Amino acid sequence: MSLSTPAYASFRSIGAYIPQKVLSNSDLEAMVDTSDEWITKRTGIKERRIAATDEYTSDMGTEASKKAIERAGIDKEEIDLIMCATVTPDYFNMPSTACIISDKLGIRNVQAFDISAACSGFVYLLSLAKAFIESGMKKNILIIGAEKFSSIIDYTDRGTCILFGDGAGAAIISSTTDKEEAFMDIHASADGTYADFLVTPAPGSMHPVSQEVIDKGLNFVQMKGNETFKLAVKTLTKDVIEILKNNSITAEDIPHFIPHQANYRIIKAVGDALKMTEEQVVVTVEKYGNTSAASIPMAINDIYESGRLKYGELMLLDTFGGGLTWASALLPFAGKTIES
Ligand code: ACO
Repeated sequence: MSLSTPAYASFRSIGAYIPQKVLSNSDLEAMVDTSDEWITKRTGIKERRIAATDEYTSDMGTEASKKAIERAGIDKEEIDLIMCATVTPDYFNMPSTACIISDKLGIRNVQAFDISAACSGFVYLLSLAKAFIESGMKKNILIIGAEKFSSIIDYTDRGTCILFGDGAGAAIISSTTDKEEAFMDIHASADGTYADFLVTPAPGSMHPVSQEVIDKGLNFVQMKGNETFKLAVKTLTKDVIEILKNNSITAEDIPHFIPHQANYRIIKAVGDALKMTEEQVVVTVEKYGNTSAASIPMAINDIYESGRLKYGELMLLDTFGGGLTWASALLPFAGKTIES
């Protein structure tokens, strides 16, 4: 490619891994003081998937990556960067989950690292991939959102254990000269003022592992659910309206609105604010729950595998998560349409 030819980032393929074990609302009824009716009404979730005890975030990320690489039609040796978004890495300090995935995929001598942006992780990675490709530094990037959220959940806390599940999604982002395939726009932001809305206090430099940490359950997710809910609706709606306006696109022009799958009521409120139809809004929360950084790529994979997502169709992604972080992206699907 000559210096005068611009490089654009394109969304070349998608893959996902869905753990086998199902944790249903009726299973949870036997564990905490809750009911299928309450969970369904307040969240839309009916079941979520839970990884096996000996199945780690890197295993799920590796399986999702294999599918994404195969569907991109590239050789794994062509990948020059691996980035993984997760808040439930195999190891909390080192090595990174991306490094472990590179080993499991048999890819050597590649730049690999993790990022932490909670549920916004996958869209944050899209913004990084765009920058790496547009600067000419990389050509084929593997991005992964993978979570074993069940490893940081207190299954006696009904406020959190009903919401989350495990899984992984991955995508290949490649350099292209075809502007029609290029990412249109991405916004990624954060506001640490709300850091205490979603916290896993330990382990970390503030609370290294100790008996006290275990006794107080500081290794589990703590969430201000109601406050998070209200801010999520406000932020997601504002963000998505802005990105559409900045690109002179109306909600009607979007065939696939793929919001973070945290709670059906949040998804519905944002979809309604945009006057989107049910066909436009992708919903998977009822079967996977909230899988954090894996939520959006798992949802993209769902519509891809069902044949709903076709080459050239526009996707609008919108997410928020711990930090607080939030992000939205407007991009066409540049992969091969699945054979039906
Ligand atoms: N079963 C039955 N009752 C429950 C349950 C449960 N699982 N959980 C809470 N309740 C009770 C509460 O104790 C409370 O009872 P009270 O009125 O007697 O005090 C009542 O239900 C209402 O509680 P709220 O917290 O106000 O319920 P709300 O309607 O807000 O729903 C929920 C709670 C589902 C957690 C909601 O607030 C939510 O989805 N928030 C967003 C959370 C979220 O998206 N987090 C992920 C962010 S992404 C990331 O980065 C990981």
